[in-house]
Amino acid sequence: METIYFDNAATSWPKPEAMIKAMADFNAHVGANPGRSGHRLSVEASRIIFNARETIASLLGAGDPHTVIFTRNATEGINTIVRGLLKPGNHVITSGMEHNSVMRPLRALEAEGIELSIVQCSGTGDIVTDDVIAMIRKNTRMIIITHASNVTGTIMPVAEIAEMAHAKGVLVCVDAAQSAGSLPINVLKDNIDILVFTGHKSLNGPQGTGGFFIRKGLENLVSPLERGGTGSRSEFEEHPDFMPDRFESGTPNTIGIAGLGAGAAHVAAIGIDTIRKHEISVTGLFLDGISSIKGIKIYGDMNPQRRTALVSFTIEGLSPSEISFELDERFNIMSRPGLHCAPSAHRTIGTFSDGTVRFSFGIFTTEEEIMTAINAIETLSLEHN
Ligand code: ALA
Repeated sequence: METIYFDNAATSWPKPEAMIKAMADFNAHVGANPGRSGHRLSVEASRIIFNARETIASLLGAGDPHTVIFTRNATEGINTIVRGLLKPGNHVITSGMEHNSVMRPLRALEAEGIELSIVQCSGTGDIVTDDVIAMIRKNTRMIIITHASNVTGTIMPVAEIAEMAHAKGVLVCVDAAQSAGSLPINVLKDNIDILVFTGHKSLNGPQGTGGFFIRKGLENLVSPLERGGTGSRSEFEEHPDFMPDRFESGTPNTIGIAGLGAGAAHVAAIGIDTIRKHEISVTGLFLDGISSIKGIKIYGDMNPQRRTALVSFTIEGLSPSEISFELDERFNIMSRPGLHCAPSAHRTIGTFSDGTVRFSFGIFTTEEEIMTAINAIETLSLEHN
């Protein structure tokens, strides 16, 4: 039985051949520390990083590649932004659909004197833009919101929120952990000030990569989380304030960024619109196939156009952990059960504390795999209903 990998929202797999090759090539033929030594291998390492920055800037519509910063993951990006920007007395708004990478840093800041408002979402995970804007106060500094929920796939109206927030002088930070590389976005046109991404999901990079875009000029409002060696301005003991060095210190994960650059180039070569079409098609096929099975409950909007390529569901008579276990053991299907590090989202859709089973698809998902999974779910459901 072939392995069916439906856990792309946790990390995408398999990875494109070009990504695997880029990482192997870096280790075999380059290996050097970028921006440090000036010899040709070091220059080549810098070039690899710059190419990755350029590819991602172009995918996000960021314009200048120096507005794209690399971090270990989306979590580090979010922590850099919220810790570096918000000061005691500031107010920040977020949604009830966030995962812990947003919620936990904000809760910690709340304990340190930052005011936090959480906008309630509907049972399908949808947010009303006016509800977000109505929460703005005199001291509101930023709205931070997911582009798409990792539990229901719900796509948030981030451009609409950004436009209205800007009219009131409030910054908007989008958490694109679940969308960068799979949903079209243009940060400059969509008025997004900051966008945090992960490298290892839809951008097809390796784990341990991520980053953020920050609109030119705003970087000076954000203190870096860390300071250290950059290979630039070595005569100064003070950390440089120019981009990208302001936020990138220490030897970077060059091999990871080599893979991320190649993964992102693979996305660019296929085209996000084509990827989106494929993901809508397989998600729609799956939703249609399971919606009439007895005992199945599906969460989120039933229209695949209104969600990313993931589906959360439950089967009556079995817990989410039991379902995922059975799917793995008997059908070779990999899924993620439980709360998906997003207790607030599960409270919103009424599935706290058992959670749901989540299937998340990707560019390599086939119709055949979807049909096998529908049959497997039907079998499990018949055994218990
Ligand atoms: N946030 C990731 C997920 O949704 C890890 O599974």
